Amino acid sequence: MQRQVYRTVSWKFDVPTLDIENPDALAAYLRATGHIDPDEQPRLTTLAGGVSNRTVLVERPNGDAWVIKQALEKLRVQVDWFSSPERIHREALGLRWLVELAPPGTITPLVFEDFDAHLLAMQAVPQPHANWKSLLLSGLLKLDHVRQFAELLAAIHANAYRRRDELAPAFDDPSFFISLRIEPYYAYTAQQAPEAAGFLNALIEDTLAQRLTLVHGDYSPKNILVHDERLILLDHEVIHWGDPAFDLGFSLTHLLSKAHHLLEHRAAFAAAANYYWQVYALALGYLPWTDDLERRAARHTLACLLARVAGRSPLEYLDSEERERQRAAVLAIIAQPPTSIATLVDQFLHELDNR
Ligand SMILES: Nc1ncnc2c1ncn2[C@@H]1O[C@H](COP(=O)(O)OP(=O)(O)O)[C@@H](O)[C@H]1O
Ligand SMILES: [Mg+2]
Repeated sequence: MQRQVYRTVSWKFDVPTLDIENPDALAAYLRATGHIDPDEQPRLTTLAGGVSNRTVLVERPNGDAWVIKQALEKLRVQVDWFSSPERIHREALGLRWLVELAPPGTITPLVFEDFDAHLLAMQAVPQPHANWKSLLLSGLLKLDHVRQFAELLAAIHANAYRRRDELAPAFDDPSFFISLRIEPYYAYTAQQAPEAAGFLNALIEDTLAQRLTLVHGDYSPKNILVHDERLILLDHEVIHWGDPAFDLGFSLTHLLSKAHHLLEHRAAFAAAANYYWQVYALALGYLPWTDDLERRAARHTLACLLARVAGRSPLEYLDSEERERQRAAVLAIIAQPPTSIATLVDQFLHELDNR
């Protein structure tokens, strides 16, 4: 694998203050750093959608297309929320490894990384493509996409575990996971929903002690693009060595919250959640930590279902009535958390129906 560190050549700009959404500044930067030709005129388009990064599509006259991603120090959310721009280098490390671990074609290769401007460039996903979250919210649920979503995650978890001697030290630092997931999703939610505080605090302690394999940390349909019916995974800044049950709970929450929101597709999304777990478990195979995984994934699903209505980052498509219903449903279930995903899905639907 390519372990080259992409250092840039000298330039005359104040690189730490470079704003890649400024087209003139970005074009000048790309020329000065030698990433494009001195007289090249790339087409630059700011991409919408992210809250914690700037992302710009660079289309070169030679047909190459890159996405440049630059981490923001202050996230674009309503409350003040800060995170070190250094996390872009975690994402770059993630890209280098995921290309080897995930199924072919599911990861955009890294093109270059700049440690001064805190940015990276990766291959752009070709057009036409669709964001999977948008497809799902419009009711376009395909089991083949769910299968790919499950197999992609299982490949990362299983293949990274096999290479744990190399990967565990490289992804050892959980600080971005703690500041961008544990605090805003679990710890903050424990304050907002005191009935769940015991459950959430025990889960925090347990999950931080599980150092099992590579965890994506943002495994959500929003970070999946569908091109030619194939899923491509983006957005790896929270990747770390930790607890695979978190990825399962985080992702199952998206399927189940859509089961809640899209009443006419409720049964289909519930079936998709069960199918997702089954395909994942089969593709993962038997590893030393799989015996207890389903039980713990069910707990993370409950925690994330609650966090996405009561934490710092609520799902924007759920209205206040839906948020209240989801909160009440989860609080009813966590008194006696189920140990299987199938039971969890049944109980969640049952509790929603009762409210
Ligand atoms: N390699 C890529 N090819 C095409 N579009 C991309 C690529 N990377 C990011 N994008 C677009 O930019 C959006 C934000 O990127 P993402 O990596 O998810 O950043 P954030 O961390 O801000 O959410 C994505 O939802 C997608 O629409
Ligand atoms: Mg994203």
